[in-house]
Amino acid sequence: MNEQSPLAPVLQAIDVRKRFYQGSTEVPVLNGVDLALTPGERVAIIGRSGSGKSSLLHILAGLDTADAGQVSVVGEDMGGASSEQRAALRCAHMGFVYQQHHLLPEFSAVENVALPQRLNRLDKNVAEASSREILEAVGLGHRLAHLPSALSGGERQRVAVARALAHQPRLVLADEPTGNLDQASAVQLMDLMVSLSEANGTAFLVVTHDVSMLHRFHRVLTLNEGRIEAYSQDD
Ligand SMILES: Nc1ncnc2c1ncn2[C@@H]1O[C@H](COP(=O)(O)OP(=O)(O)O)[C@@H](O)[C@H]1O
Ligand SMILES: [Mg+2]
Repeated sequence: MNEQSPLAPVLQAIDVRKRFYQGSTEVPVLNGVDLALTPGERVAIIGRSGSGKSSLLHILAGLDTADAGQVSVVGEDMGGASSEQRAALRCAHMGFVYQQHHLLPEFSAVENVALPQRLNRLDKNVAEASSREILEAVGLGHRLAHLPSALSGGERQRVAVARALAHQPRLVLADEPTGNLDQASAVQLMDLMVSLSEANGTAFLVVTHDVSMLHRFHRVLTLNEGRIEAYSQDD
């Protein structure tokens, strides 16, 4: 059972630590990350290349595991869960947009977007109807039957965003979702994020380099020396 109060964090990380090894050399990447997102909150993370942003998002999503610390999603322990339980938590509560889109090449745009809902055992027609709607909302109503190989880089990225949103998760983690987009498409995606967070209370944690988008977030954080800090424009 999981009966959270409406203001309880949808995502909480406490003292998360991670190091990688390059041969025998230890590369510390996350040195005690603390982070919490409440429902409807929009939080941006910026930081130089190699600062650990993707590693952090993967750990928060349960796609990778931390060396130490705690991660909970909608009050459920993500860090301590088995990989099957982590996948189930993701499926139930989370949308994830990879830095590389990770679409399935043999499936059309609509089928890719419908996949998380199908994994949640939603009827195919119902899943594909809502997937068409969300693809229209990201400006891809004319690309529904296209395979990823027949889409541009920016179109693939928008399909990946649509896939992260279609099952109406409580929380969306996105790794540079506007990185391949022209300004108009990037603005359209950010508008969609704002309206979903305000209408449905969806929380968004977005890694971005795009400083022109930062005003759309409630908070902007940086990842520096493996820790989260508040961002100031003078940084
Ligand atoms: N699987 C891995 N094995 C070894 N080193 C890794 C691995 N993943 C990431 N790293 C290293 O961790 C650091 C942070 O990487 P990453 O999280 O991708 O940074 P960012 O997304 O901020 O650019 C980099 O130095 C990278 O080389
Ligand atoms: Mg990255």
